[in-house]
Amino acid sequence: MTLYAHRGASAHAPENTIPSFKKALEMGARGIELDVQLSADGIPVVIHDFFLNKTTEASGMVRSLEWKEISKLDAGSWFGNDFRGTGIPALEDVLALIPRDVCLNIEVKSISLFQEPTTRIVLDMLEQEGGRDILISSFNHNCLKEVRERDPEMKIGILTGSDMIDFTSYVKSTGLNPYSLHPEASYLTKEYVDKAHAEGWKVMCYTVNSPDAAELVGRCGVDGFFSDYPELIQ
Ligand code: G3P
Ligand code: MG
Repeated sequence: MTLYAHRGASAHAPENTIPSFKKALEMGARGIELDVQLSADGIPVVIHDFFLNKTTEASGMVRSLEWKEISKLDAGSWFGNDFRGTGIPALEDVLALIPRDVCLNIEVKSISLFQEPTTRIVLDMLEQEGGRDILISSFNHNCLKEVRERDPEMKIGILTGSDMIDFTSYVKSTGLNPYSLHPEASYLTKEYVDKAHAEGWKVMCYTVNSPDAAELVGRCGVDGFFSDYPELIQ
């Protein structure tokens, strides 16, 4: 079973920052998840929320500030004084940090309304990354369609946040040929995992933050899970 450090070791350091990813690596994580969005000038930046106010001193949307402004923000103080001055990283900075054999799960955050070229720009960047273990996921399945149309080999993870009446038919109808399905953990059952495995899809669920929850999803037969606590792999 693979543990994906969710936004890095985000229970121990501010989510989606270099200290959080470094901590996850120190703790032995073999998979790392991050969220990516575009700045106003099209730079892929690593941040979860569409709005800046949860983790920085700024307000407004990530997409309305240019990278030169985003890069000056403090995304660490909200978590604790020890992290004061920690910045929001660009995707490029994180790619430079993560060893090539650690699976990097890039979750594309994209609102359809804005028609942003996030997926295309991320894929352009990944073209220089041949041989790296990468899995691209998104709740926006149109982004995943873009990935598949451009790259028949890229590992795709289909994220879902609710129970689905007939997920196997849905997934087949998308033509995405995913590597994995990423359901929210509370919608997981052993039947779900068995059905997915019968189709050749792995199952990784989110977000599993206690030993009890890890045991439950383990009993369902998942291939991996996302956690803010990399130590849970024990
Ligand atoms: O990719 C798993 C998980 O990160 C999905 O939810 O909201 O934490 O990005 P969220
Ligand atoms: Mg995420």
